[in-house]
Amino acid sequence: MAVSCIHLVLLLCLVPATVASPRRNLRISPTDFAALDAVAPSPADASRPTTFFEVDRPLRPPPGSSGPCSTLLLSGSFAFTFTKPPATAAYSAPPCLAAAGGRASAISLAVLEWRATCQGVQYDRIFGVWLGGAELLRGSTAEPLQNGVVWSVSKDVTRYASLLAAGNSTLAVFVENRVDGGLTGVYYANVTLHLYFRRTPTRPPPAVSPADLIVPMSRGLPLNDGLWYKIQNATDVVSTSVTLPSNIYRAVVEVFVSFHGHDEFWWTNQPGADANGPFREVTVRVDGVLAGAAWPFPVIFTGGVNPLLWRPITGIGSFSLPTYDVELTPLLGKMLDGKAHEFGLAVTNAVDVWYVDANLHLWLDPGSTATAAGLVSYMAPELAATATSSRTTASRQISATGWVESSYGNITTNATQTFAFDNTNTGDTVNQTTVAHAGVAAMGRAGVLYYSARTHHSFPLLLDSGADQVTVTHGLEETTVAAGLWSSGPRYQSLRNTQRSSVVGGGASWGIRQTYRYEATDGCYSRNVTSSGYSIVSDQSSEACVKGPLR
Ligand SMILES: *[C@@H]1O[C@H](CO)[C@@H](O)[C@H](O)[C@H]1NC(C)=O
Ligand SMILES: *[C@@H]1O[C@H](CO)[C@@H](O)[C@H](O)[C@H]1NC(C)=O
Ligand SMILES: *[C@@H]1O[C@H](CO)[C@@H](O)[C@H](O)[C@H]1NC(C)=O
Ligand SMILES: *[C@@H]1O[C@H](CO)[C@@H](O)[C@H](O)[C@H]1NC(C)=O
Ligand SMILES: *[C@@H]1O[C@H](CO)[C@@H](O)[C@H](O)[C@H]1NC(C)=O
Ligand SMILES: *[C@@H]1O[C@H](CO)[C@@H](O)[C@H](O)[C@H]1NC(C)=O
Ligand SMILES: *[C@@H]1O[C@H](CO)[C@@H](O)[C@H](O)[C@H]1NC(C)=O
Repeated sequence: MAVSCIHLVLLLCLVPATVASPRRNLRISPTDFAALDAVAPSPADASRPTTFFEVDRPLRPPPGSSGPCSTLLLSGSFAFTFTKPPATAAYSAPPCLAAAGGRASAISLAVLEWRATCQGVQYDRIFGVWLGGAELLRGSTAEPLQNGVVWSVSKDVTRYASLLAAGNSTLAVFVENRVDGGLTGVYYANVTLHLYFRRTPTRPPPAVSPADLIVPMSRGLPLNDGLWYKIQNATDVVSTSVTLPSNIYRAVVEVFVSFHGHDEFWWTNQPGADANGPFREVTVRVDGVLAGAAWPFPVIFTGGVNPLLWRPITGIGSFSLPTYDVELTPLLGKMLDGKAHEFGLAVTNAVDVWYVDANLHLWLDPGSTATAAGLVSYMAPELAATATSSRTTASRQISATGWVESSYGNITTNATQTFAFDNTNTGDTVNQTTVAHAGVAAMGRAGVLYYSARTHHSFPLLLDSGADQVTVTHGLEETTVAAGLWSSGPRYQSLRNTQRSSVVGGGASWGIRQTYRYEATDGCYSRNVTSSGYSIVSDQSSEACVKGPLR
């Protein structure tokens, strides 16, 4: 039942009457769209596949690195994959890693590259890549054109170094696709790992280098479908029972999430009128206690609202979805007893269907077989939410402080998350902003600061759908300031990524303007790119730091 329901939902061919449907039709079926596309201006060179891309910064290895050493991990074709097992390949650490000493700490940068093509009539589809059950990458495919589409995405996967260096495991790739009823597009994809190594091995700093162990919170192989859990409603809690090693001194959970079916456009729901209004969050629970939350960036997939809005520059986060970190260190007190604990994930207000899973990043004490930990304080007031007929707001704060005694000493960590959400929906326009602050500080005796990080996220989104023009203005802003004994000096990272896309006259013309500005202690990157129809009309990028060397 569940499967056939999702089946229907993803195709949107039938909406069961009992389920409230989205207010607007924000999806055009690919077969209908193919008819539209036939009259829209076509790519300059229609004899070759068109390249779609997401604006992102190039990934540069730290100075003095060697590499890359590139390994094709999996090459697959994905036709009718619904309810079928994922494609898998045996993984063992590439020989060049053994040559570099074999340790995770030899890796200075690891990049996972996804490259894929598709031709014909097909929806944009969701896909995931897992190694040993831990999700590494989740993306939306590019919705194809008759002449074909090709795209690639590269993700920094250095934080999974321990998994990449560990012995044999299984790489799994699932692209949720169907080829039937007029849908012809088959996705072909290659997954390649590029490794860069430190020339001179250095002992990595504790707590801030990649985790020593990654424990997946996902569905295990063998199975049909992706390894993600599917959450269909607001009361559903999916959970993974995990017995943890006894010498953990830091723990972070990383959440992967995407929304589909009736909740693909959750942010357009009108309070009262549409299913559960426009507010959504993923909550993380440990043994039933709220440990943290992720307030999602409203990713718009390549077929969303109007597919032309994302051609050829795809929506922010669509080819590689953002993930969300929650610090669990203050709560370690109850996890170190050698017993199984329940790690749960839920989605507030969820409507069918949310795909979620997570990775538990654990740092282990090299100097002891058992650490001790205790909770000092914990505060998590109920979600505060208000709704009128057109405006919805929500806010939340979660804060915990706890100590961990390890061979590094007795270190007290506090972690706080603060969220604010504001959504105004007038019918023609949706104006939404999500703001999230997170702070972590780990202090030893006599006020020694071991590490601290403050992050700020802001996700503004404006959808303006007039009679003759649809415009989406979307932004992702992210700032991180890190400090402490274990950080390699003060660190600063700031990203401002803004995209404005519009379609006029139902597809007679369309254009995208994107500005991407990244400034960090380790370098800068900025790019301004403008497209009109399928053509790039201006594209400037620079790796100079406008403000000079950043501190
Ligand atoms: C995948 O790699 C194979 C072998 O190099 C190549 O022939 C094929 O075109 C690649 N496919 C994609 C989608 O890049
Ligand atoms: C991994 O698998 C390969 C091939 O099956 C085998 O030769 C090797 O010994 C295995 N390595 C480990 C660490 O299990
Ligand atoms: C919520 O979803 C779960 C899992 O599919 C199901 O068991 C439960 O009955 C659903 N609850 C409601 C209220 O629909
Ligand atoms: C660690 O420090 C905390 C707070 O100062 C204290 O309550 C706790 O007892 C200490 N733990 C150990 C094992 O000394
Ligand atoms: C966490 O510790 C830092 C350093 O002592 C302090 O500035 C901050 O206010 C603390 N945060 C919370 C939520 O207790
Ligand atoms: C969108 O809402 C924000 C408040 O969250 C407001 O500052 C901004 O002016 C609004 N923008 C538009 C175009 O209405
Ligand atoms: C992008 O445009 C902004 C002004 O809108 C300008 O300050 C910046 O230098 C431009 N960046 C590049 C790489 O051209």
